[in-house]
Amino acid sequence: MLKMKELLYPLNALEPYYSKETLDLHYNILYKGYVDNTNNTEEKLRVAREKADFTNIKCLEKDLSFFGSGVILHELFFDNMGPAIPTEPDIELMKQIIKNFGSYEIFKQQFTEASKTVEASRLVYLSMGSQMV
Ligand SMILES: [Fe+2]
Repeated sequence: MLKMKELLYPLNALEPYYSKETLDLHYNILYKGYVDNTNNTEEKLRVAREKADFTNIKCLEKDLSFFGSGVILHELFFDNMGPAIPTEPDIELMKQIIKNFGSYEIFKQQFTEASKTVEASRLVYLSMGSQMV
């Protein structure tokens, strides 16, 4: 059973970029909802396995993916935000952003537009892996 990760900073710690009310909404309502719904879906899957009734397996797997992604994305967000986190990329990350996106401004525009259009959580993240370098 999933449990909510503890928020490592107070709800007002991201102001003025992110209001206390907005963080409260994302942590105590939305994130909690994703955790609860992931647990509810896992329970439904347990019952389905117990009964060997997989009539709704497509829906349950889709729900598990959707709610589980919401948990992961919110935890990524909470873990990567905080009062002491720099607001601009360091030199190495900036170089990689410019290499991959053309400019920091274009990267920010793409990131912003992606966050406006992505389904549900509206969370977008940048990751670096060996294939991107
Ligand atoms: Fe959220």
